[in-house]
Amino acid sequence: MKGTFKALLLAASTFAQTLPTLPKPETQSVSFNSSFKFSATQLELGQLWPELAENLETVLNYDRSQLANGGPSQDDFYKLSNSTAPTTPGQILRVQRVTDPKVWNIPAKTALSRFIYTTTTANGTLIPASAYILWPWTARRVGTEASDKAPVVLWSHGTSGFYADGSPSAHRSLFYGNIMPFTLAQAGYVVVATDYAGLGVQTSWDGSLVSAQYQNRVSQAFDSLYALRAARQIFPDKITDKYVNVGHSQGGAAAWGVSEVLAENADNHFDDLECDYLGSIIFAPGINSLFAAPQVFAPWIGKDLHLLYPDFKLSDWLSPLGMDRTELLTQIQGGQFVSELLFLANATEIVNPAWNESWYASTYTQFTNPGNRPYKAPMILFQGTEDQGGRSFNNSLSAFESTCKNHHSGSFEFVSLPGVAHFPSMDSTRQQWLQWIEDRFNQKPVGSQSCIKSTIKSFLPADSYQEFSTSFPQWAGAANEYFELVAGGF
Ligand SMILES: *[C@@H]1O[C@H](CO)[C@@H](O)[C@H](O)[C@H]1NC(C)=O
Ligand SMILES: *[C@@H]1O[C@H](CO)[C@@H](O)[C@H](O)[C@H]1NC(C)=O
Ligand SMILES: *[C@@H]1O[C@H](CO)[C@@H](O)[C@H](O)[C@H]1NC(C)=O
Ligand SMILES: *[C@@H]1O[C@H](CO)[C@@H](O)[C@H](O)[C@H]1NC(C)=O
Ligand SMILES: *[C@@H]1O[C@H](CO)[C@@H](O)[C@H](O)[C@H]1NC(C)=O
Ligand SMILES: *[C@@H]1O[C@H](CO)[C@@H](O)[C@H](O)[C@H]1NC(C)=O
Repeated sequence: MKGTFKALLLAASTFAQTLPTLPKPETQSVSFNSSFKFSATQLELGQLWPELAENLETVLNYDRSQLANGGPSQDDFYKLSNSTAPTTPGQILRVQRVTDPKVWNIPAKTALSRFIYTTTTANGTLIPASAYILWPWTARRVGTEASDKAPVVLWSHGTSGFYADGSPSAHRSLFYGNIMPFTLAQAGYVVVATDYAGLGVQTSWDGSLVSAQYQNRVSQAFDSLYALRAARQIFPDKITDKYVNVGHSQGGAAAWGVSEVLAENADNHFDDLECDYLGSIIFAPGINSLFAAPQVFAPWIGKDLHLLYPDFKLSDWLSPLGMDRTELLTQIQGGQFVSELLFLANATEIVNPAWNESWYASTYTQFTNPGNRPYKAPMILFQGTEDQGGRSFNNSLSAFESTCKNHHSGSFEFVSLPGVAHFPSMDSTRQQWLQWIEDRFNQKPVGSQSCIKSTIKSFLPADSYQEFSTSFPQWAGAANEYFELVAGGF
């Protein structure tokens, strides 16, 4: 369609004879590409009143319309056939070397690959996961490796969801869009990014359900590292062995987890990846979230916690209403905002009041919080002071300080960002982290082997600035929507 249209324009401008017939411009569908409505049974299960149901449907239909090809529940790429069971983590199960990008929103002159590979749960059970690779048009020239290879950034995303439909690889903008993957690819890096197990592929090779291990620094670190191992086997001649490790929020904890898993390198299991590690950038890592907001984190974590602690029952943490709403969330594969609406609508009725009296909450938090362990240096952590009203800043700073006091393992910098909230920790420091990545590839020594603190202040007074982006990239790839695109013209 697009090709024909361009050919017509070309013919028209070349011969200046008859002008092409432009497609009739049509406004974007305001109802997005989904029209989900709750069934009567679901309304009853969730004890949803009409206004709450309508609000949830609005958000869910928006979320679903952001999924390319209808997302994992409809896209056959994510459906594994029942073939021979794989035997080791990092094994390749399916490769789409060139993903047709037309229904994604990725920038012009970037390219997408997707693959499915094996990873493990925190406890070592072999399971499948999906990942994407976002390619630059030209590779950034860095370091000493062959210049026909693109330098790798291993990216761990923040909370996108808890079910198959939450997979960034199926999101038209790869969920973080310009904030991270698009920026990296356009700067000449190749982005290797896991969805995390449980997001993307929902059914394993033996027909079993693949659950998400939400906010688990260990399982998410495994997902990232095994994705990298698989990507290297798929594209040995296209991507560098050296890599920089980056993550934000849930993924900030995951990326910190990557550095801890590499520092431990139990049984020399990660020798292949440890030696090529150049360092980690951590943005606003998720720490102590369960205790800060159990109304949402207890359902998100609890629904799959039996994978870690087999005796755990969801009723240890949730009220009957909380359990019913979690069941409803599972049925609709709701993401972060859907579940916030769902749980916060009755915030005081969701958790079992005794949720924090059993050992699960504190043991889980200790196990999954990053920090207070040896790490693989160098690391840099960017943290805004306005993240969750300052609570996240305090959590990050104390994790940094106790890690440095008890487990100093080399260069670690804590960068305070006055006036900056959770997501803008990346927007506000783009120059600094792009430089940091480039310096690592160029083997530039880090300034100090110690733990240091620094501050990046805004150029104008902090309150002069736009706080958050107020638009999102909406797919407009049909011919009758071209008029909305700058790139649609001559
Ligand atoms: C719109 O949604 C339908 C149904 O979910 C899906 O099959 C289709 O691929 C989506 N359209 C695009 C352009 O992604
Ligand atoms: C997949 O194959 C295994 C044996 O290899 C079998 O036990 C299992 O039931 C099959 N699952 C499905 C969903 O067909
Ligand atoms: C999984 O690992 C955790 C933490 O090491 C441990 O407490 C738990 O018993 C293990 N669970 C299973 C199912 O092996
Ligand atoms: C949930 O909140 C609504 C609105 O405040 C209230 O009417 C309803 O009774 C609550 N449901 C439960 C089970 O507490
Ligand atoms: C459990 O949380 C409640 C608030 O939800 C708090 O009042 C109580 O002190 C906590 N108990 C423990 C043992 O931490
Ligand atoms: C963060 O720590 C500072 C210094 O200890 C304290 O004054 C402030 O109240 C804390 N903020 C939050 C939200 O806990």
